Amino acid sequence: MVKVDLSGAKAFFTGNGPDYSAAEAAHKVLAERSGAGADFLGWPELPAKIRETELDRIVAAAEKIRSRSSVLVVIGIGGSYLGAKGAIEFLRPNPGPGDTRVLFAGNGVNPDYLYDIIGQLADRDFDVNVISKSGTTLEPAVSFRIFRDILSAKYGDEANDHIFATTDAKRGVLKSLADANGWESFVVPDDVGGRYSVFSAVGLLPMAVAGIDVRKVIDCAVKEFKALDERSESNPAWQYAAARQNLYASGKKVELLACFDPKFRWMAEWWKQLYGESEGKDKIGIFPASVEFTADLHSMGQYIQDGERILMETVVRFDECMTFMEVPFVSSNADGLNYLAGRDLGEIGRVIEDAVMEAHISGGVPCMTVSVKKRNEEGLASLVCFFELACGISGYMSGVNPFNQPGVEAYKKNMFRMLGKPGAV
Ligand code: PA5
Repeated sequence: MVKVDLSGAKAFFTGNGPDYSAAEAAHKVLAERSGAGADFLGWPELPAKIRETELDRIVAAAEKIRSRSSVLVVIGIGGSYLGAKGAIEFLRPNPGPGDTRVLFAGNGVNPDYLYDIIGQLADRDFDVNVISKSGTTLEPAVSFRIFRDILSAKYGDEANDHIFATTDAKRGVLKSLADANGWESFVVPDDVGGRYSVFSAVGLLPMAVAGIDVRKVIDCAVKEFKALDERSESNPAWQYAAARQNLYASGKKVELLACFDPKFRWMAEWWKQLYGESEGKDKIGIFPASVEFTADLHSMGQYIQDGERILMETVVRFDECMTFMEVPFVSSNADGLNYLAGRDLGEIGRVIEDAVMEAHISGGVPCMTVSVKKRNEEGLASLVCFFELACGISGYMSGVNPFNQPGVEAYKKNMFRMLGKPGAV
């Protein structure tokens, strides 16, 4: 389970501090499925369910793809790609020899971006995993048309064997196309929204193709959701949710998710979608932003230390790095660094983390930490389960429905009208 440390936020809490009775009530509503958006509360049971249903087939499909293709093109947007992208960049960013490379398309319509991906395919064998719960999202649908053409030109009648569709079990254009063309299909469960779907085939098939041990991830996630069901103030999800709501009420409108490991960058993008889409509605909500340290200390560091005091900071920490690397001793000591000689970079990094947080707290930025042992499968499962549950609790505490996204429709309506879609007004 993750550990949350609120000591760096304590001085900034107002009233009686984090409201644990509100967190408890929100957790109850969530667990009993008695609140708004209750139809989308299938995600806490998702790891246990997927283990019983599709996991074997997901692993088998991944093995088939890995054995014959050097590239998998994953086509999806929002919740239909950020979880997989985050997990792969977190655990397996550099494909090893023999690994299938996973490329992401359909998260926009920029032709230059697509052209680059197509260029990377060159004459390589590849498969396509098209992911869309609704099956109607324009950006992935347009990209999919383009990649279907390329598949047909390359594989002829065999093209359909190279398409894997992840979509609704019964409805939607993608489901109809999959049935009509015999594509192997996986399900986005009805009761799981896109941003909560990383432990379905949406996240697991691309992860498995990238070489991640998805059985291990799922086993850890099952245990993690069970542990997070604890109803007490020691539940880290209560601590985090209640602390951020307290800080928001005192004017900390922006939450910076910070991490000192660059491999967390895309997990932060996943987190931003999770929290932004879940909480930003009804004209309220903490704005989720992210920074990558120490790099961003030399760009955003000035604002964080000294700009408008609207920030709270959540630092994701790892107790141990995966690699040991020490600073070499140099007898001339011309660069003056011998005071660090023999010390592990991971240990030096942890000292820097403490120094940064101390500076930010003294500059008026409350700092919370969320830590796991290592950047491995267990760490990934712990972070995903924790952030998902805390998001649901925090959203209910703020009074919104954390499981819808009505605001996303506004641009689509304009876009379809302006593009001349038949019937669009
Ligand atoms: O979280 C969500 O529900 C959204 O971000 C969706 O995942 C995103 O809009 C893509 O939708 P779809 O999977 O229907 O193409």
